[in-house]
Amino acid sequence: MKSLQWRMLAALGLVIVFAWAISIMMFVSYLTEGQSNAWRTGLHTLGEKLVGVLPAEAIPPAPVATQPGGMASSEPASTLTAMVLNTVELGLVGLLTWLTLMAALRPLRAISAGLAQRDPYDSTPLPVHQVPTELRPLITAFNALLGRVDTAMRAERQFIADAAHELRTPLAALHVQAEVALAAGTLQEKDHALERLLDVSHRTHRLAEQLLDLARLDAGLHSSGMVPADLLELSRHVLSEFRVQAAERNIRLNLEGDACLIRCDVDEVGILIRNLVDNAIRHGNVGGQVTVTCRGASAANDQQAELIVTDDGPGVPDADFKAIFDRFYRAPGTVTQGSGIGLSLVAGIAALHGATAEASRAGRHGGLRVAVTFPVALKNS
Ligand SMILES: Nc1ncnc2c1ncn2[C@@H]1O[C@H](COP(=O)(O)OP(=O)(O)O)[C@@H](O)[C@H]1O
Ligand SMILES: [Mg+2]
Repeated sequence: MKSLQWRMLAALGLVIVFAWAISIMMFVSYLTEGQSNAWRTGLHTLGEKLVGVLPAEAIPPAPVATQPGGMASSEPASTLTAMVLNTVELGLVGLLTWLTLMAALRPLRAISAGLAQRDPYDSTPLPVHQVPTELRPLITAFNALLGRVDTAMRAERQFIADAAHELRTPLAALHVQAEVALAAGTLQEKDHALERLLDVSHRTHRLAEQLLDLARLDAGLHSSGMVPADLLELSRHVLSEFRVQAAERNIRLNLEGDACLIRCDVDEVGILIRNLVDNAIRHGNVGGQVTVTCRGASAANDQQAELIVTDDGPGVPDADFKAIFDRFYRAPGTVTQGSGIGLSLVAGIAALHGATAEASRAGRHGGLRVAVTFPVALKNS
């Protein structure tokens, strides 16, 4: 019997059976032995003894015997006997309840002791079947939580391992370039080494930033709340940050479309657009074009707003359209430097906003088109 409720009912039942057994025995002895049966005499004697214990002034003078059998003089004795019997019965109920509870809660004490000694990374589920039925939902919910914490912890460990792996190469390159610059014999060689050092330091900085963005996203930390914002305005702002980088590759930046109001975490959507534009510029063709288009809710589609970034570079094979959003994935044959974090950030931020990100071909001659579809902000929200 694993249910606490049933155990308590059983204990109560036991006490009721006990009380009935005594009453029946008394009744039977009354029928067989008459007024002066052993029970009655025993209880009467007990009552008299109890009265004898009380101080004489506490007992009122006994009235003259009026009832047949002369029982009026034993009124206080009967009352005291009844009180003692009630107390014994209640004590018995209490004792049985306590014993039942102790027995039912023993598995919980064992579980608590086990938890206190547990390794912090041990997420083995707690035994559900040993505990009373009423507590099983709690243990099941706790086990589910343990499972989720375990998944989150594994993801975190994986992230730290991946991040360490990604950072090792550029940090080693920084070291090497600094040594080359130090050992350079001529000023020209030194300048050259310093330029390469600066380049590696830019890449390391970008990588560290992406890793931190990813860690923040994984931890579910929102830098600011969800507020209504115009995608077109955000894109304009991001494009202005990339003017120098685009000019280095002689790429023209275009912004098209109209105002698109969405509800978003402005910082995160900024990171999303930045990663898409950065990819388009870095993977796109020298002398090409990068276009950001914002399409607001229209009569045909009044629930969604779209952000589309296209370039005219080599694009990726159709088979990789999904995989490029995976963390640390880089399409085979990609020559441009990178880590494969950018698009996984885009996918993560999109998911946080209830949006979807999809890659496709930009045109007949290649190029990549990434479209992020957001639910629009309701006008009165
Ligand atoms: N605009 C693009 N043109 C061609 N390939 C792209 C483009 N954007 C992304 N990719 C491919 O998707 C991969 C993943 O992109 P991303 O996650 O941003 O990582 P990274 O740019 O650091 O390599 C890139 O390595 C590249 O192979
Ligand atoms: Mg990228």
